[in-house]
Amino acid sequence: MNKKIIVLIVGVLVIGLIGVILLNSKSNDNETLNNNFEERNNNLEKNEDKKVAVIYFSASGTTKSMAEIINKKINSDLIEIVPKEKYTNADLNWNDSNSRTSIECNDASSRPEIANTINVDAYDVIFLGYPIWWGDVPHIILTFMDTYKLDGKTIIPFCTSGGTGIGGSINTLKKYNKNVNWLDGKRLSNESDVDSFLNNLNY
Ligand SMILES: Cc1cc2nc3c(=O)[nH]c(=O)nc-3n(C[C@H](O)[C@H](O)[C@H](O)COP(=O)(O)O)c2cc1C
Repeated sequence: MNKKIIVLIVGVLVIGLIGVILLNSKSNDNETLNNNFEERNNNLEKNEDKKVAVIYFSASGTTKSMAEIINKKINSDLIEIVPKEKYTNADLNWNDSNSRTSIECNDASSRPEIANTINVDAYDVIFLGYPIWWGDVPHIILTFMDTYKLDGKTIIPFCTSGGTGIGGSINTLKKYNKNVNWLDGKRLSNESDVDSFLNNLNY
């Protein structure tokens, strides 16, 4: 056979081989891409399946406004824990050792009554909001914990305060119900706090 023809045949074979290798790697890439998309869609569907509520207690409106911002951003259900007896300004006076809140906070067994019924069974994930009172949760939050079966649910605490962090109240909550899947909580002051809170959560 002519030398030129042999070179031509070998050349065609090499080009063909390179083509086959390239096609094969492309289809592997597509497969990986498809798998990634599938995984992402599954995760999204999982989150969409979860029913989420923002449940909060607020005596003077600050925690309520943070709860409203969270609710607007995640499109959940917003539910207030309403005290049977509304807290007056005198009740909230922490400088008065005989005020209602001072008495409640000093009495470990106090469980202020809740006026409304909350359908917690409808939710898998609960954002639980409250103001810090004397470094801790207001006892009406413990009434909420006593009233409803929360075992197995994911609860994400958040609080507002004059400056005290959320840590002490989270210790109380975690000790109070060890069967809840407690996620990291955060003290919130404004919308950008809410944004970073939500961005760092995985529920
Ligand atoms: C009885 C009482 C005790 C409080 N104790 C604290 C405290 O220990 N640390 C703090 O930073 N703020 C404290 N605060 C301030 C509240 O946490 C803060 O004003 C909160 O944002 C009020 O939320 P609300 O408007 O939703 O009720 C206290 C307020 C009250 C009424």
